[in-house]
Amino acid sequence: MRRATLPRFGGGRTRATLASESTRNRTKHGSEPVTRKPEDHAPRTWYRPTGHEISIFEHAFALRQPVLLKGPTGCGKSRFVEHMAEKLDRPLVTVACHDDTSATDLLGRYLVKGGETVWQDGPVTRAVREGAILYLDEVAEARADVVVVLHPLADFRRRIYVDRLGTELVPPDGFMLVASFNPGYQHRLKEMKPSTRQRFLSISFDYPDPAVEAEIVANESGVERRVADKLVKLCVKLRKLDALGLAEIPSTRLLVETARLMHAGVPPRIACQAALIEPLSDDRDTVRGLAEAVALFF
Ligand SMILES: Nc1ncnc2c1ncn2[C@@H]1O[C@H](COP(=O)(O)OP(=O)(O)OP(=O)(O)O)[C@@H](O)[C@H]1O
Ligand SMILES: [Mg+2]
Repeated sequence: MRRATLPRFGGGRTRATLASESTRNRTKHGSEPVTRKPEDHAPRTWYRPTGHEISIFEHAFALRQPVLLKGPTGCGKSRFVEHMAEKLDRPLVTVACHDDTSATDLLGRYLVKGGETVWQDGPVTRAVREGAILYLDEVAEARADVVVVLHPLADFRRRIYVDRLGTELVPPDGFMLVASFNPGYQHRLKEMKPSTRQRFLSISFDYPDPAVEAEIVANESGVERRVADKLVKLCVKLRKLDALGLAEIPSTRLLVETARLMHAGVPPRIACQAALIEPLSDDRDTVRGLAEAVALFF
C-alpha cells in the first residue's frame, strides 16, 4: 500500500491513506490532471470538523475516488456524509448493509405490477443514474461476494454491469461511492476483503477532543456549555474505566442524547441513567459502577 501525496494539511485527528492510486489524475477524457473544484453550497446539516476530513473528501470527490470512513459507533460518520452531500450539492442514497443484503437488493429487480413486468432500480443503480453520493453504511456487514459486485464502480472502470438488464451503467461526474466501517465492531469477526479496502481512500474517525466534543454536545442539544463540559468530563472518565468491561465505550451520540434529555428538563442523574448508562450495559454490577461515576459529576 502506497502513501498518497495529498496536499499538506499540518497536524490533525483524521488520517488519510490512498489505498489505490489507479484513478488518480484521471478524468473521463484521459489522464490530464483534474482541475474541477467542487462548488461550495451552504449545508443545512451542521457538522463540526475535527481534522482534515472535509478537505480529503472534497479531493476524493474531485478525483472520483471512493472513500471509506472508519470509526466507532456514534462518532459522526453519517452526519459527516450528510453534510458533505449538501456541501457538494449531491443527492444522498444510503444503504444500511446487512448479511442478507443481496446483489439484487442493491442493483434492482423485475417486479410484476398489474400484470406487467416492470424493472425497479435498486439503491446502487438509482444512485449511479442520479449521480448521487452512494453511502454503504456498515459495509463489512454485507457478504463479501455482494460487495465484489461493486468493485468495478470503485476502481478505474467506474461503471457497473447490471446483468438482469444486460446493461452497463456509467455514472455521471457527480457520483461518488462512500462506505463506513467500524473496525472494532463484533470483535473483528467481520472484516473487509483487502481487495475491497484497497479500492478506497480511507479516513479515520474517533471521538473528538473534550473541548470539541463539548461544543458538539452543546450545539446539538441546546444545553449550556458548562453542562456539556461536565458531561464530556464524565464521559472521558467512563471511557478510561477498563474495569467495567464495556463492549463499546460511550459515544458522542450517547452524550448528545443525554444532554437532550437534560435540556428537556429531565433531572441529570435520571437522564444519565436512561440515555448513557442503560444503553451501555445490561450487567447489574456494571450499571451500578457507571451510576457511581455519574454521581461524582451530577
Ligand atoms: N463532528 C460532529 N459534528 C456534529 N455532530 C456530531 C459530530 N460527531 C458526532 N455528532 C453527533 O453525534 C450523533 C451521532 O453521529 P453519527 O450518527 O454520524 O454517528 P456514526 O459514526 O454514523 O455512528 P454509527 O457507526 O453507529 O452509524 C450525530 O447525530 C450528532 O448529533
Ligand atoms: Mg452511521
